Amino acid sequence: MYCIRKVTDDLTWVGSNDRRLSLFEGVYSIPEGVSYNSYVLLDEKTVLFDTVDKSVDEVFYENVAHVLNGRPLDYLVINHMEPDHAASIAGVVLRWPEVKLICNAKTAAMIRQFFSFDLDSRAVIVKEGDVISTGRHQLTFVLAPMVHWPEVMVTYDLTDKILFSADAFGHFGTLDGHLFADEVDFYGEYMDYARRYLTNIVGKYGPMIMATLAKASTLELNYICPLHGFVWRKDFGDFIGKYAKWGSYEPEETGVVIAYASIYGHTANAAEILACRLAEKGIRVKVFDASMTPPSYIISDAFRYSHLVFAAPTYNMGVFTPMDTLLREIAAHNLQNRTVAFIENGTWAPVSGRQMREIIAGIPNTTILDGPITIKSSVKDEQNEALSALADAIEATIKK
Ligand code: FEO
Repeated sequence: MYCIRKVTDDLTWVGSNDRRLSLFEGVYSIPEGVSYNSYVLLDEKTVLFDTVDKSVDEVFYENVAHVLNGRPLDYLVINHMEPDHAASIAGVVLRWPEVKLICNAKTAAMIRQFFSFDLDSRAVIVKEGDVISTGRHQLTFVLAPMVHWPEVMVTYDLTDKILFSADAFGHFGTLDGHLFADEVDFYGEYMDYARRYLTNIVGKYGPMIMATLAKASTLELNYICPLHGFVWRKDFGDFIGKYAKWGSYEPEETGVVIAYASIYGHTANAAEILACRLAEKGIRVKVFDASMTPPSYIISDAFRYSHLVFAAPTYNMGVFTPMDTLLREIAAHNLQNRTVAFIENGTWAPVSGRQMREIIAGIPNTTILDGPITIKSSVKDEQNEALSALADAIEATIKK
């Protein structure tokens, strides 16, 4: 049975929610679920904007058919070819064989890679700035490479000032019957989902996020329709502001993320002591056990806060594996403009401090505080004092 909601009089959301997917992209846990958004425009021509993941395609086809109500589907606009939005393209072509696929040249190449149907007879290849009229509506296209794949474009409805923003401004979390962000407490309940989504999935491509924001800033916007999460129709300035922070790698807040990996609890003890010394100074602290918390959650808060402390034992003459994984993920995301410190542990040959530093030191604009603090098996008076001194040093950088 169809399940739809109206965005405007002639634009309808025809997507669906997935609450059973354990790992988004096979790597990000999403207990909050995710929505796959698609939209149908009824004009003199009918237009479908993107499709959905195959996990929800049956209800999607029913939704589209219900909204079309027997009309043919004239156009499918393909803003993004990642299969969470493009998997159902072949199913759309099968059900509405007369449909024309509006896409750019890079997208067309990917369609040929993913599918085997005849594209040449259906493709309408567009470039940035091209305009297609569907009757009352005029659609134009803006390239947004690497937000999140190289072929990504966003579509702007010049008539009703609607931005179909692809992955941009999307978030994890299901819609639960709501469609608009102003129907829920977005900033209170969903911002963490949005931050973890954007920073992990597109965080590496900050300059491309900023380039897309610059293009979007020239557009008058009544609605933003992303491919995941809520549609925006008001009060989206703060959300765009968060994107500017994430895209430029500027912390949202002053505070310290302490991530530790600990085998028998002594490295964890050092992390807890440091957290106490910092909190006593009125500094916001978040502590994570990297053995228990997946990297995506820690990366999300690493984008949020200004200071990072990593604590890990030496293991097989390297960095204990949960911390090694986390640090390489952070380096891969190119997180910049952070002040960083390290705490190492080793009962007979501590080397994890130097090796953690080597992983992080290559990231541009990283300030590494003196150290590392070295624990030999467990925290003694000497390390206790060093942890207090580290808290002082962090406080000093904050005051500066
Ligand atoms: Fe939601 Fe890059 O796909």
